[in-house]
Amino acid sequence: MFLLEGVGKAYPRSVALEPLSMRIDAGEKVAVLGPSGSGKTTLLHLLGGVIQPDHGSITIDDRPLAYLGPGRELAGLVGVMHQQFDLVPHLAVVHNVLAGNLGRWGTLRSLLSLVSPRERHVALNALDRLGIGDKLYERTSTLSGGEQQRVAMARLLVQTPKAILADEPVASLDPARAEDLTKLLAEVAADSGRTLVASLHSVDLTRKYFDRAVGLRNGRVQFDSPVGDVTDDVLERLYDIEGLDSAR
Ligand SMILES: Nc1ncnc2c1ncn2[C@@H]1O[C@H](COP(=O)(O)OP(=O)(O)OP(=O)(O)O)[C@@H](O)[C@H]1O
Ligand SMILES: [Mg+2]
Repeated sequence: MFLLEGVGKAYPRSVALEPLSMRIDAGEKVAVLGPSGSGKTTLLHLLGGVIQPDHGSITIDDRPLAYLGPGRELAGLVGVMHQQFDLVPHLAVVHNVLAGNLGRWGTLRSLLSLVSPRERHVALNALDRLGIGDKLYERTSTLSGGEQQRVAMARLLVQTPKAILADEPVASLDPARAEDLTKLLAEVAADSGRTLVASLHSVDLTRKYFDRAVGLRNGRVQFDSPVGDVTDDVLERLYDIEGLDSAR
């Protein structure tokens, strides 16, 4: 599904990701772990075409990402759930959910048209699945952080991309909800053979719902292995504060 060859990204004052090569197969569920600033968001943004690499190439589903402009084709391939879930606060929930179809239906139609009964049904289905169907017509800004996170997830369900990239999708949820939603993400991916790449801070959830874990530290891949091989020792070395490069 994803092929990265020598992909790296630097900013004027820091190297966000050292050049790396990796392959993620269709249907794989990959967790990206690492301390704050280790490059998790950078990696997910590169995979989703949100930012461009300085060097190297990224292929999605056999297509070079560099030639995929933003829009329909890219939206059908990858859906990105951002760390700040970029909802439009003054719009009703239903419109934010249906914006998942922006790539396919066109911005104006999604945002300005009256919601058709079919679209309403699609949005409600997704929200129901996440336990917030009653919020369909609420103004998004009046929802709690956790509820907004679920709206962002509903938008992904509606978009139905081949691969889901989720950047700390359960960061603002209580532990029970965090597990529910991680499970749901994993189920949604498994149902339809979708690829899932998610950054998260929970090792337990990683072990329970993912196949493979990539550990990033200071912009470098420290490990990339089946979750069964990620022992407490391996994790301690990943998160060890003492050894973190303080210049970054
Ligand atoms: N737009 C940017 N401009 C300059 N530096 C950036 C930019 N984005 C990221 N960086 C730097 O790149 C490094 C990696 O950032 P990244 O956001 O990928 O980390 P992260 O692992 O997602 O952290 P967190 O867990 O806090 O979300 C950091 O040192 C960060 O300061
Ligand atoms: Mg991040």
